[in-house]
Amino acid sequence: AEKGLKDYYKAYFPVGVAVSPQGLKGAEGELIKQQFNSITPENAMKMGPIHPEENRYFWKDADEIVQFAQDHHLRVRGHNLLWHEQTPRWLFKNADGSTVSKDVLLQRLHDHIDTVVKRYKGKIYAWDVVNEAISDNPQEFLRDSEWYKICGEDFIAKAFEYAHAADPSAVLFYNDYNTERPEKRDRIIKLLKKLKAAKVPIDAVGLQGHWSLQEPTEPELRAALDEYKALGLKIQITELDVSIYPWEKERRARCPDESDAFTPELEQKQAAQYKMFFKVFRDYKNVLTGVTFWNISDKYTWLDTYPVPGRKNYPLLFDQNQKPKKAFYEVVKF
Ligand code: XIL
Repeated sequence: AEKGLKDYYKAYFPVGVAVSPQGLKGAEGELIKQQFNSITPENAMKMGPIHPEENRYFWKDADEIVQFAQDHHLRVRGHNLLWHEQTPRWLFKNADGSTVSKDVLLQRLHDHIDTVVKRYKGKIYAWDVVNEAISDNPQEFLRDSEWYKICGEDFIAKAFEYAHAADPSAVLFYNDYNTERPEKRDRIIKLLKKLKAAKVPIDAVGLQGHWSLQEPTEPELRAALDEYKALGLKIQITELDVSIYPWEKERRARCPDESDAFTPELEQKQAAQYKMFFKVFRDYKNVLTGVTFWNISDKYTWLDTYPVPGRKNYPLLFDQNQKPKKAFYEVVKF
């Protein structure tokens, strides 16, 4: 078989990819086996999809992904146990429609984490326990989510404790985006320090890596890795992609005159950006324990519909026909 990313990076870190059950089939499925040695379920283990009603779990998609990993000797990162999105509404409501108490919510969180983590014990080596709990508003610390409104800060420590009790050998992560922007980075670090000081069983921090052609810059990325490393936590890049659209512009509606062509100029810029990222990653191999891409090839990427629908994106190392792009060759040339 041809050499894949996992082979080039053997001496550095495992290289992973986010998948759905459909992605395991056909040409994309072949590419997974050839290129990667780790997978993350893109949606299948989130609380909404896997636990849509109280006392009812939907295991099929998650089981299929874990079985594929077992069959092809891939490690699995579980994603995720607690988030403010893709969370079922029943969780926060009593039978009469009123909002649950903190005790009830923590009991439900415990049951959920205990059930999901134990089911895959020994097959999932790491979990994103808490996802995106820090606010995007620099004036705020934690995001004003349902979790926060009902429990205050406590839900974070509790989630880690429940996960650790269910599988003491799983590597437990706090995972977030824009982790390199200094104002957000500082608040994430504040949270991680608090958790460490309170002896909460947290092992690592996940930098999602939903990046663009403009950011992060090399100094921003190095500064962030240095700061997280200094906490004594392991680090992974958990959701890497490099959008061809600037982040600020992504927050607005699509401009009517905007082209969504992947021009040679964009391909060149993207290759240079990926080259820089992987050079930095190699320099941090002692603390960086994995790099995972968010989707397999440009045939399907969540960025085709997020944050605005109807606009094609090309954020990955493989094109719409699963052929390596310029960026791929830059990443494996060192
Ligand atoms: C995304 C999936 O890729 C989409 O299919 C889904 O519609 C929304 O969620 N941060 C995360 C991931 O932690 O779980 C998100 O995945 C992307 C942003």
